[in-house]
Amino acid sequence: MARGRIALVTGAAGGIGRAVVARLVADGFRVAAVDIDEARMTELTGAVRDGVTPFVCDQTDEAAIGAVVERVETELGPVHALVNTIGWVGTTRFIEEDSDYWRKIIAVNLESILYVTHPVLERMIERKAGTVCNFSSDAGRIGTSCEVVYSACKAGVIALCKSLARENARYGINFNVVSPGPTDTPLLKEEIEQNPELIQRMTRLIPFRRVAQPEDQAAAVSFLVSDDASYITGQVISVSGGLTMVD
Ligand SMILES: NC(=O)c1ccc[n+]([C@@H]2O[C@H](COP(=O)([O-])OP(=O)(O)OC[C@H]3O[C@@H](n4cnc5c(N)ncnc54)[C@H](O)[C@@H]3O)[C@@H](O)[C@H]2O)c1
Repeated sequence: MARGRIALVTGAAGGIGRAVVARLVADGFRVAAVDIDEARMTELTGAVRDGVTPFVCDQTDEAAIGAVVERVETELGPVHALVNTIGWVGTTRFIEEDSDYWRKIIAVNLESILYVTHPVLERMIERKAGTVCNFSSDAGRIGTSCEVVYSACKAGVIALCKSLARENARYGINFNVVSPGPTDTPLLKEEIEQNPELIQRMTRLIPFRRVAQPEDQAAAVSFLVSDDASYITGQVISVSGGLTMVD
């Protein structure tokens, strides 16, 4: 059990984020929940009342997320676990996209993680304690069409985590990655609306013959940020029902 430790969860109002918040609260964390979507944050704090403090913030704004980290540390206490579930993707072919779109994808899926990790890590290093879990995607490991720049960012998240894991093991801080396969969330629903046959095709390819539920992803986070995983660092866990099996 986390015994009142603080977890900072980003993308907290999303499909997976909400399940992660609920699971970490059940594990005994007090959760600082960060998301840009004010309406969905209100829903989240309505559903998971105790143990969650909401912070509405655009995580692609370095100063704004820096100020949130400062507030969390002063108002709630030292961040023990940082979990980044933030993400966004559309489904277009690379050749149809423009550089404004690429910049948004890179800002949400990669830069936002740098902006929150830096101020949190500074404090974790001072305390010589902490754990970080980031969300990639199997798209970042095996590639996928119609999500080209997103896939590049998600591969970047893996490299970022492995490199940070090497730099910071000396302080007792571990960095790991959850790499979801298709998961039943608003993000997937958006993709299915654009391409209705996608779900049947996906399900046929998944050995367990179902897409993941957000709680499947939250269970992996729960383990990775627990003391039971304190000797595990720089690793990627694919929660994909066996869809992706790569070394
Ligand atoms: N759902 C899937 O099938 C799937 C598959 C592979 C990987 N993933 C990854 O898992 C993670 C969670 O995905 P999800 O399905 O829950 O997505 P989601 O869209 O339901 O949630 C993402 C959350 O990020 C928030 N967000 C977006 N831009 C933001 C910004 N600038 N500042 C602050 N918050 C912002 C959104 O408001 C949203 O609540 C993402 O990193 C995603 O890439 C999801």
